[in-house]
Amino acid sequence: MHVLLTGASGFLGSAFVGLLGCFPEIELSVLRSSHAECVLPLGSRELFVQNLEAVSGIEKVLGARVPTHIIHLAALSSPAACEQQPKLAHAANVGFTRTLVQLASKLGCHITVASTDLVFEGSPARAAGFSESDTPSPRSAYSRSKADAESAALLYARSCVVRLCLLYGHTHSKSRGALGWIEDKLHSKEELVLFEDEYRTPIHVADAAHALLQLARRQALGVWHCGGPERLSRVQFGLTVAEALGYDPSVIRPARRADVPSTPERPEDVSLSSDKLWTLLGAVPRTLRTALVEE
Ligand SMILES: NC(=O)c1ccc[n+]([C@@H]2O[C@H](COP(=O)([O-])OP(=O)(O)OC[C@H]3O[C@@H](n4cnc5c(N)ncnc54)[C@H](OP(=O)(O)O)[C@@H]3O)[C@@H](O)[C@H]2O)c1
Repeated sequence: MHVLLTGASGFLGSAFVGLLGCFPEIELSVLRSSHAECVLPLGSRELFVQNLEAVSGIEKVLGARVPTHIIHLAALSSPAACEQQPKLAHAANVGFTRTLVQLASKLGCHITVASTDLVFEGSPARAAGFSESDTPSPRSAYSRSKADAESAALLYARSCVVRLCLLYGHTHSKSRGALGWIEDKLHSKEELVLFEDEYRTPIHVADAAHALLQLARRQALGVWHCGGPERLSRVQFGLTVAEALGYDPSVIRPARRADVPSTPERPEDVSLSSDKLWTLLGAVPRTLRTALVEE
């Protein structure tokens, strides 16, 4: 197996790279458009391209060592940044995906594309969560670009789209995922306002990386949901983090969404049902508390 990875310096990318460190038999080439710091396993190749939208440039840096699998994680992943720069969001999220799908099709390799639970932001989830057969209803620039990227990926017969939920955990990346600002506030004992009526199905970033690798290894096709085993409100998330990491939970102030409007507006409930994935892998990912205590 030879993996060509994008987004290696990011939050999920660095967890994925860390995981591959345990699989020396997997060859790793990392395709990058930035020089952000990135810790790679010994023996991996770092390939720089100025423009992730040109297949020819990527082929040139790849040379004769062509991948069997592409794992595409690179994205403009901040919803606020996408709202401010919708053209850049489209180029980064849809343009890069189109290029990599074109490359996969040319090389005849399998491609796994990271997407998001936020493609469902237009309507609240049922108690069991959205399943793969539910129709996306994107509203923001970020979620529209990710939904368009999904459509571009699914045109290729050997593609797998993985809708990830809120990711948390600690990695080498500068991006800090869902824990970053929560831990900062808990640490400095500042008031932490969290919603009691906004729900996610969070998953530890290492468990998400493991799922991505397993889906790629099995050459899974179509859409897969990748969330954790619990549907948690933001308050429940914060209280569990405080309890598991030994912080004072009394700084957490529960609020209702209507009381603190946000820009861009965050969806109320994008919980996903990930039963299809867990059945395939034969295991359910860790709960928030277990994953934090084990980290
Ligand atoms: N974090 C979450 O909670 C979450 C939830 C659902 C879905 N996702 C999806 O999972 C994937 C990885 O997310 P992440 O949180 O790891 O993202 P991230 O920390 O923001 O990292 C994204 C990486 O993409 C690369 N990149 C290439 N072009 C870029 C551009 N124009 N702007 C910004 N970055 C660019 C960079 O890696 P290089 O320097 O190596 O090129 C960057 O480190 C994304 O597709 C995201 O949409 C994330």
